[in-house]
Amino acid sequence: MMKAISTTGRRFKPENVRLAKEVAQKFGISYVSRNRESMEELRELYDCEVILVAKKGLLVLDTLEGELFFHPNMAHLRLKNLRMGEHDHMVEAMDLRPGMTVLDCTLGFGADAIVASYATGSGGSVTGLEVNPFVAEVIGYGLGHSLGDNYDMHEAMRRIRVHCADYLDFLREQPDKSFDVVYFDPMFRHPLMESENLNPLRAVADHRPVPLEAISEAKRVARHRVVLKENSRSLEFARLGFTKMAGGQYSKIRYGIYEIMGACP
Ligand SMILES: C[S@@+](CC[C@H](N)C(=O)[O-])C[C@H]1O[C@@H](n2cnc3c(N)ncnc32)[C@H](O)[C@@H]1O
Repeated sequence: MMKAISTTGRRFKPENVRLAKEVAQKFGISYVSRNRESMEELRELYDCEVILVAKKGLLVLDTLEGELFFHPNMAHLRLKNLRMGEHDHMVEAMDLRPGMTVLDCTLGFGADAIVASYATGSGGSVTGLEVNPFVAEVIGYGLGHSLGDNYDMHEAMRRIRVHCADYLDFLREQPDKSFDVVYFDPMFRHPLMESENLNPLRAVADHRPVPLEAISEAKRVARHRVVLKENSRSLEFARLGFTKMAGGQYSKIRYGIYEIMGACP
């Protein structure tokens, strides 16, 4: 685990102190009462790589590359489009319908999970896995406590179950055919440089390539499809055995699809 402390924003609010102390206890890290120090000063003083900061009733992860926080607006436009009957490439690649169950192996900011949760509706479910414990905490707390833009988004966020786990370990423990769709959106082998808002996540995320074993476990666990998102030019699709593709013709992102034989059309 990365070396960390927890603290609050500069403005004293008892609820933030409570939250910062709670996460300190959960992770067995020090809670530091905030005075006027900057994040850089705290990082130097306590020799830590990241700082969990409770502010405005939510958690933020301060990294060397900036703040990582939950923001539902990353899914806002996609939900708006879906509501207007427009297509979403990920929803199409997963072939999502109301009532389906999705295992999102790579939660990250949770945007794809929110879209999947919206598409599967109140009768479906989305389980999100994130291996970095601090990312899982910040995003899981945000999904559970932050206000969605509207009722549908709010409900979609609240339905997502977050687990801090390595997807390979988690998949190995699942029974056969226990989720309709298993989804991977790993850190791209060749990142799209313009997505600068990913920098704080890049600083703390797990960058290991998806092991072949994870794909074969996913094929065992999925009832309907296994889907991999990657840079459209990525060699990962071929390495991991994905031959069917979806996504916009000119998009820099592609979805590799593996259909489970015998799955309902
Ligand atoms: C590109 S991000 C996912 C973004 C996400 N789809 C979204 O919509 O915000 C990939 C995330 O997967 C996590 N990750 C990488 N390897 C993992 C593993 N073996 N198990 C669980 N999470 C993993 C990374 O730490 C990172 O947060």
